[in-house]
Amino acid sequence: MIGIIGAMEEEVALLKEAMTVEETVEYASMIFCRGNLYGKEAVLVRSGIGKVNAGICAQILVDKFQVDVLINTGIAGSLDAAIDIGDMVISTDLVEHDMDASIFGDPVGQIPRMDTFSFPADEALVEKAKAANMEANPDIRTFTGRIVSGDQFVSSAEVKEKLVNTFHARCTEMEGAAIAHAAYLNKVSCVIIRAISDKADNSATMDYPVFEKKAIEHSVRLIQNLLPRI
Ligand code: ADE
Repeated sequence: MIGIIGAMEEEVALLKEAMTVEETVEYASMIFCRGNLYGKEAVLVRSGIGKVNAGICAQILVDKFQVDVLINTGIAGSLDAAIDIGDMVISTDLVEHDMDASIFGDPVGQIPRMDTFSFPADEALVEKAKAANMEANPDIRTFTGRIVSGDQFVSSAEVKEKLVNTFHARCTEMEGAAIAHAAYLNKVSCVIIRAISDKADNSATMDYPVFEKKAIEHSVRLIQNLLPRI
């Protein structure tokens, strides 16, 4: 069973239209839609924003729907000069950038007493998502690499620079690492897929409604192409 956590209401709504829904059920104030999507048994849900919502959502997908694959789509701020607005980033691993127990000697991002620094995405899923995006969305560029997450919308050059220097990540957002963390603890596969919406700095000006529409189109096409590959 595949769990798909979408960030944007319109994106989840579009995927829901494409789904043959067999069951709609609410847990923890989140609406889970189970059914057949592009030929695969899947559960579709919008988690809400932030690491706690995302972690709770992922755990429910594992516990109540026995998902063995977690896919998360959404938007992110670029942390890499080579990655522009509209490009797609597929996670190789994820770090919670606002975890800081460095006073005890841990590197920033390390969750104390956990046996890993970053939470890996499933390598085969990453390759499939990359191939799916290149085929479904040839008009945009595809990058893979580390994604960092925190309960913080990054919109200052100073914070951005700190993240860039500390984590060498491709982009920053607010849920992916929590989902990858839940996947790690539950020993299920995951991949985080993010369309770049801004540069995570003071100049984060953009035509957001136009971008959002395009991002949703891209991520729906990506999911449509990806699911038959899984
Ligand atoms: N999602 C999209 N852009 C973001 C940013 N700059 N910081 C955190 N989450 C984001």
